[in-house]
Amino acid sequence: MNHVPPAGSPTGRPPAGLRPAELCIVIPVLNEEANVAPLVERLDRALVGIGWEAIFVDDDSTDATRAAVAAIGAHDPRVRLLHRIGRRGLSSAFIEGAQASLAPCIAAIDGDLQHDETVLPRMFAALREGGYELAVGSRYIAGGGVGTWDRKRAGMSGLATRLSRIVLRAPVSDPMSGFFMLRRDTFERAVRGLSALGFKILLDILASLPAPPALIELPYEFRTRTAGESKLDAGVLRDYLLLVVDKLVGRWVPVRFLLFAAVGALGIAAHLVVLKLCLAALALDFATAQAIATGCAIVGNFVLNNVFTFREARLQGWGFVRGLLTFAAICSVGAMGNVGVAAFLFSPAVNSAWWLAGLAGAVMSLVWNYAVSSVITWRRN
Ligand code: GDD
Ligand code: MN
Repeated sequence: MNHVPPAGSPTGRPPAGLRPAELCIVIPVLNEEANVAPLVERLDRALVGIGWEAIFVDDDSTDATRAAVAAIGAHDPRVRLLHRIGRRGLSSAFIEGAQASLAPCIAAIDGDLQHDETVLPRMFAALREGGYELAVGSRYIAGGGVGTWDRKRAGMSGLATRLSRIVLRAPVSDPMSGFFMLRRDTFERAVRGLSALGFKILLDILASLPAPPALIELPYEFRTRTAGESKLDAGVLRDYLLLVVDKLVGRWVPVRFLLFAAVGALGIAAHLVVLKLCLAALALDFATAQAIATGCAIVGNFVLNNVFTFREARLQGWGFVRGLLTFAAICSVGAMGNVGVAAFLFSPAVNSAWWLAGLAGAVMSLVWNYAVSSVITWRRN
């Protein structure tokens, strides 16, 4: 192997025959072993005459995806691998893949053959010769389509697209597309504002750019998956909502905190329902009923936070039990602080209104519970 730079190359002159890539194709992959080789073959056929490189960004697939990439990369230097451990997410995979390259144009394409790679040369021409900054593969303009999607999936996509208009400044028919190409300088203008949450990197980029980019949409037909499985699940929906909210208010409040607060509000409602049941149906004395309601609220909040708020750090098995205990302990301290602060504010020394004192105590314990449990209960690696 020729890893030692030949004389002359420190000045930037490449060895004969080696030229820097003009186009970097970032391919996020999770358990796509059967799709890797066919995709590279298709890219090779589609991109004749363009100096391209492909970076597969793999989030620790459990099948032979990385081996499939390595087998090709062993003889084709255009094919590279970025292996991430303990990480998840299509958006962050794209961002890191793009940042691992120097190519002036960057494309995103799925690793499951559902995107039509034959559109890539037209995207490239639009950026190189057409003066565009961003070319989007669209399923929703004439000539495009969603293929064999069922009604439910098509409906969900349509709904998500409409929801995206809240945060979008540029008119785009398919902001949910994961198939697009952009200039590196355009990417750089967005990169520091990206939320990097979940699946929808194009929407994230569009909502993070300081000004609408010169944009062209090119139609393509979304293909049916033939190998491997879709990674779309309930978590993807939650990530999407989080992305939209983060784009709206993330500058001022962390979305995760808002989620934690929303779960807390549900907890209060649950608390009151259980309290009423214990008092009315079971005829328990108030202190016992209140204790049971508090316990239920803590367990309920823990479960919901575990599934929604801290999904990436979700606890299972013994970790779940340990997490529940630390969460209960943290909330207890929070409750004591809550009462302490509220009582102090309500005391003659400060003399706040009752509701202001109560609210301040509640907000204080909310912030405490969030800050401490995100470090201790759901610490991420
Ligand atoms: N590295 C990495 N990490 N890759 C991932 C992850 C992840 O957490 N989740 C999914 N992928 C990879 C898959 O292996 C595949 O190559 C690609 O991302 C798309 O994932 P799919 O699970 O096949 O997504 P889909 O077909 O439901 O969604 C597609 O349609 C959307 C439009 O509705 C994707 O193209 C989206 O990008 C697109 O927005
Ligand atoms: Mn897919």
